[in-house]
Amino acid sequence: MNRADLIVGLQWGDEGKGKIVDHLAQKQDFVCRFAGGHNAGHTIVVGESVYALHLIPSGVLNPKAKNIVGNGVVLSPVDFIKEMDQFDNLDGRLFLSDKAHLLLPYHALIDQAREKMKGEKAIGTTGKGIGPAYGDKVARVGHRMGELLDPVKLTNKIMDHFSQNEKLFEVMGVATPKQEELLAELEDYNKILAPHIVDTTLLVWKALEDNKKILLEGAQGTMLDIDHGTYPFVTSSTTVSSGACSGLGLNPKDLGEVTGIAKAYCTRVGNGPFPSEDFGEEGERLRKNGHEFGTTTGRPRRCGWFDAVAMKHAVRINGVDQIALMKLDVLDGFEEVKVCVAYNVNGQRVEHVPYDLEDAQPIYKTFKGWDKTEGVRNFDELPETAKEYIEALEEMVGTKMGIISTSPQREDTIIR
Ligand code: GDP
Ligand code: IMO
Ligand code: MG
Repeated sequence: MNRADLIVGLQWGDEGKGKIVDHLAQKQDFVCRFAGGHNAGHTIVVGESVYALHLIPSGVLNPKAKNIVGNGVVLSPVDFIKEMDQFDNLDGRLFLSDKAHLLLPYHALIDQAREKMKGEKAIGTTGKGIGPAYGDKVARVGHRMGELLDPVKLTNKIMDHFSQNEKLFEVMGVATPKQEELLAELEDYNKILAPHIVDTTLLVWKALEDNKKILLEGAQGTMLDIDHGTYPFVTSSTTVSSGACSGLGLNPKDLGEVTGIAKAYCTRVGNGPFPSEDFGEEGERLRKNGHEFGTTTGRPRRCGWFDAVAMKHAVRINGVDQIALMKLDVLDGFEEVKVCVAYNVNGQRVEHVPYDLEDAQPIYKTFKGWDKTEGVRNFDELPETAKEYIEALEEMVGTKMGIISTSPQREDTIIR
């Protein structure tokens, strides 16, 4: 029986997962998303065309690959349908788990209201309703995609939910939907999505039994994981490799090679600790060179240096076999490049991720920069100092960097 290979983000998201999934998807039979929702924004550049995918797996650009949205995902029908509109005929190659949870417009309103109430202490969410949708799932008051198959029954359940929580919705400023309008909306979703709703767990099991090639596409990043990230400044799902099991109905033995995606520097969007953030000119230069503005919200991303301590933590948690080092070209032209090799926490040198990263100050090691790596497709053609940088990172995190990316384009990828 085959095993499913896995792609996970090793930093705070936006590492370039979309590009690598798309690159590998050319040889896949199935690409499966297992967590998150339309908070994710995976950019794929093919020639002159740029695709921003939020919920549809990045395998969609390979016409032969089938795409699965697993039970671990929270799915907003209205946003999903908008995304589907970009592509011709997805019949027979797009499957949605009947157990994935529905993210409905009221979840986004609650998300935004809660962030507003938090004021300066806000998480800086995408405002898409991710926390409230996962919250309802865990509180066992959520609704699943399977329920969309009976819009009348689902309408009644949602109306009951509103009447049971009337006061709470009132405080949040979320109006109770009108029954007929809600029914009409759910019927519209049903018409478009029902043909795609199946038991995706059985589908993945069968694909493995048939020795199909399967790639599991993570969203967000390890440091945003609900358990292992910088809580409470995290997302609400399991973003690490174990989430691929629960989010699709696999067991750990079903997993094959784990490729972790990391930028050659580091970014974060939203609030929360980021020890190697650069507040000066170099941070600004990284943002400009790397076009570091969110795919989903357009917010400027906070920029800084590669954090080897957080990376070791991510490698261990995810069981990473190889790292894909992305956006090396963004460091082109820097005289010096820094790497965070340890933290200073209240005067003590710390080489692991502490309980609270808020108090961690970076301890840097400096490397000599290089002129140009952009568009290089062969490791031997990289400048010597760039090779030294990569080899030093490999040594620090104890993992091979088997893929190196030197531009957004599919082909500008070094495979070692
Ligand atoms: P994801 O969420 O992990 O899929 O990453 P995003 O798509 O949100 O952000 C990564 C951005 O970097 C996208 O705009 C990609 O097109 C771009 N990108 C990916 N790889 C490279 C690279 O090697 N060099 C440069 N300059 N840009 C890249
Ligand atoms: P991809 O898949 C970067 C961040 C938000 C915020 C926190 C919580 O493109 O890498 P949420 O809306 O999930 O409740 O927000 O998580 N966040 C991401 N940051 N990339 C993402 O996805 C993200 N998804 C959520 O900015 O800090
Ligand atoms: Mg992204």
